[in-house]
Amino acid sequence: MKFFIDTANLDQIKEMQELGIIDGVTTNPTLLAKEGAEPTEQLRKICEIVDGPVSGEVIGLTTEEMVKEARELAKIASNIVIKIPFTKDGIKAVNILEPEGIKTNVTLVFSQNQVLIAAKAGASYISPFIGRLMDNGQNEIDFLWECMDILNSYDFKSELIVASVRNTRHVIESAKIGAHIATIPFAVLDKMFKHPNTDQGLEDFLKDWEKLQSKLKK
Ligand code: G3P
Repeated sequence: MKFFIDTANLDQIKEMQELGIIDGVTTNPTLLAKEGAEPTEQLRKICEIVDGPVSGEVIGLTTEEMVKEARELAKIASNIVIKIPFTKDGIKAVNILEPEGIKTNVTLVFSQNQVLIAAKAGASYISPFIGRLMDNGQNEIDFLWECMDILNSYDFKSELIVASVRNTRHVIESAKIGAHIATIPFAVLDKMFKHPNTDQGLEDFLKDWEKLQSKLKK
């Protein structure tokens, strides 16, 4: 499973990139607003750090506005992917952009119906928001299984990006399901590195090593 990082923060992207575990980046208007920088410039900087796909979202609501914005965003770098909200206008925009070679990531996806339609439209990526479904009391893992089942049943080109990831369990469940990609916030990625037994084990090994050194000196 590929790991994308779900952030527009350059330091966070650099830190995970240096660990060699990042295959791409997803942003959205909220994440870019958090950074306070000019969005196009920020996306350009992200594309300089990461070779893999970098998603930036359109703001327009009509097909015409989305297509116009997408064509501009696509000029930033060859690895830019255009996030398109799941609406009828959005799906029309996907139908126009994909044949032009502009990759799309259909976002704000909350149902199996939406996954099927986005796949039929030929989106490169589809992003179901599992954390927000969980917040609404829905079983987000069962939902994911069904989404992957739909994609695996046919020859769709779309890759599923598990989005709105809230915890490390979400990442593991995504991997068990065989999701193509999970886009993971920095804090969750950071937690995936930690285990108290590893810290304790390392401390014990070093203590025992020191004891051996003192013994050998006597
Ligand atoms: O990739 C989509 C993601 O940014 C949404 O996450 O935590 O705002 O539901 P969240």
